[in-house]
Amino acid sequence: MYRSHNCGELTAANINQEVTLAGWIQKSRDKGFLIWADLRDRYGVTQLIFDEERTDKAVFNLAGTLGREFVVQVKGTVIERESKNPNMPTGDIEILVKELTILNPSAVPPFTIEDETDGGEDLRMKYRYLDIRRNPVKNSLLFRHKVAMEVRNYLSAQGFIEVETPVLIKSTPEGARDFVVPSRMNPGQFYALPQSPQTFKQLLMVGGMDKYFQIVKCFRDEDLRADRQPEFTQIDCEMAFVEQEDIMQAFEGLASHLLKELKGVETGAFPRMTYDEAMRKYGNDKPDIRFGMEFGELNEVAQHKDFAVFNDAELVVGIAAPGCASYTRKEIDALIDWVKRPQVGASGMVYVKYNEDGSLKSSVDKFYDEADLAKWAEATGAKPGDLILVLSGEAHKTRARLSTLRMELASRLGLRKPDEFAPLWVVDFPLLEWDEETERFHAMHHPFTSPKPEDMPLLETEPAKVRANAYDLVLNGNEIGGGSIRIHDKATQQLMFKYLGFTEEQAKAQFGFLMDAFQYGAPPHGGLAFGFDRLVAILGGQETIRDFIAFPKNNSGRDVMIDAPSVIDNAQLDELNIRLK
Ligand code: AMO
Repeated sequence: MYRSHNCGELTAANINQEVTLAGWIQKSRDKGFLIWADLRDRYGVTQLIFDEERTDKAVFNLAGTLGREFVVQVKGTVIERESKNPNMPTGDIEILVKELTILNPSAVPPFTIEDETDGGEDLRMKYRYLDIRRNPVKNSLLFRHKVAMEVRNYLSAQGFIEVETPVLIKSTPEGARDFVVPSRMNPGQFYALPQSPQTFKQLLMVGGMDKYFQIVKCFRDEDLRADRQPEFTQIDCEMAFVEQEDIMQAFEGLASHLLKELKGVETGAFPRMTYDEAMRKYGNDKPDIRFGMEFGELNEVAQHKDFAVFNDAELVVGIAAPGCASYTRKEIDALIDWVKRPQVGASGMVYVKYNEDGSLKSSVDKFYDEADLAKWAEATGAKPGDLILVLSGEAHKTRARLSTLRMELASRLGLRKPDEFAPLWVVDFPLLEWDEETERFHAMHHPFTSPKPEDMPLLETEPAKVRANAYDLVLNGNEIGGGSIRIHDKATQQLMFKYLGFTEEQAKAQFGFLMDAFQYGAPPHGGLAFGFDRLVAILGGQETIRDFIAFPKNNSGRDVMIDAPSVIDNAQLDELNIRLK
């Protein structure tokens, strides 16, 4: 038996007990005649004491050789500590060690295994297994497990069953590039890794499974960001014989349950907002509604003077930054430089100081008087003490830029509080999205999403105006889930592929299996997938999903610990019939 207890459970109630513990040496302090060491495992830390007078000499000498991260087993007696540590669950006791076995020595770790480590991001990624020993990473993984268990138990109790779908498949378009795997047995042919199990879950509905879920890995070859990984996990769900409302109820139930069980937060019914409203009020289809700063459109109150920049713009729009009228010229200039960075892309920014005394002072005083500016204040909801910031230009881009500024300011002003949760549904997404590069319409969600029946006639005439039976679940400014009611008849699906620019042959070659299945009694169905990593991170009060993934990839999509991806040798390439240029 390696241990009788773990390192987190012994308290004053165990005093005088003989125990065996095993773990890692966190640190040790040698006072000459006394040696203390902290022994750590997943459950906590227990202090060990080696006393020249009370400990066997050989054991005492061996204790003097202990280094950081040595793996040891100790046997000894639980005793009361002389100086107690009320901040530790085991802080009342220590173990007077009688026997010490070094199970495995350790090289000096490349960074300190402490909550606040001296190791940089790259180093910690390279030695991720050491990083996992640190509380912040360990606790994130424990939390992830807890969320997964809640999800499984909840969905299972609601009658959902977990079905595994294959990983070696054919392309499922979710808007990213596929990762592909060459097939040795089928020379020149490739599998694609699933961007999601979308088509399979629909086939499970045709198969009569009725309520499906799966906590499943998905793979997308796309540019990485804090909230994106090339392989990530979804809680993928699908239901048969449902309308949009049924799906929203079912998964609002799951999200509310998680917020309540894991965060003690009661949210009430989630607000709903149309895509158009979200874009108009927040410039974003995943608005953070924990704080205000809603957009005020200013065309009517700013295009009547000689200011050509505004007069020529499709949209003039502003926000009121609360309490920022006191910003100095230098601070405002820095903000203007910030929006002019290529990542934001504004060509300039107009500002109005709404001073505490009620006076209004702007960077465009030459063109606008106080009466004009008062109207801007009204439109943006500004109060005395606020700073109004105004951008102008092409509507879509200007909204996106102002949205970026809104989020940045909210972060700087501490308005994005990690312990506050503001979920909402965004509904009525456009079915199609114009892609400048390919000069074609793309499915905004995916090609299996059904249009709203009342918008069907517009498909021929004004495709951009067709709305989809699609919805996103947004939490604290992050899209944590999305789904739709699907097309379930062959003719409509064929038509959709046609609108998306597929020839009949292409559609048949890529998705013939699905359209065939639709001929054999496909029930009406729909579903949704949560981004599990994102959900866990946000519930954990963070936005970087990497911290909640045991072995994540870095920003270049590399696993720097195992050094992947890597080259493979020529023999293997030959076997796979692959010639490199
Ligand atoms: P969608 O593409 O919206 O829908 O994905 C669902 C959710 O997955 C998360 N997500 C990601 N998380 C981390 N890294 C990524 N690279 C990444 N990409 C997406 C997001 C997103 O909301 N099959 C459909 C679902 C459906 O229609 O039922 C789908 O995959 O949180």
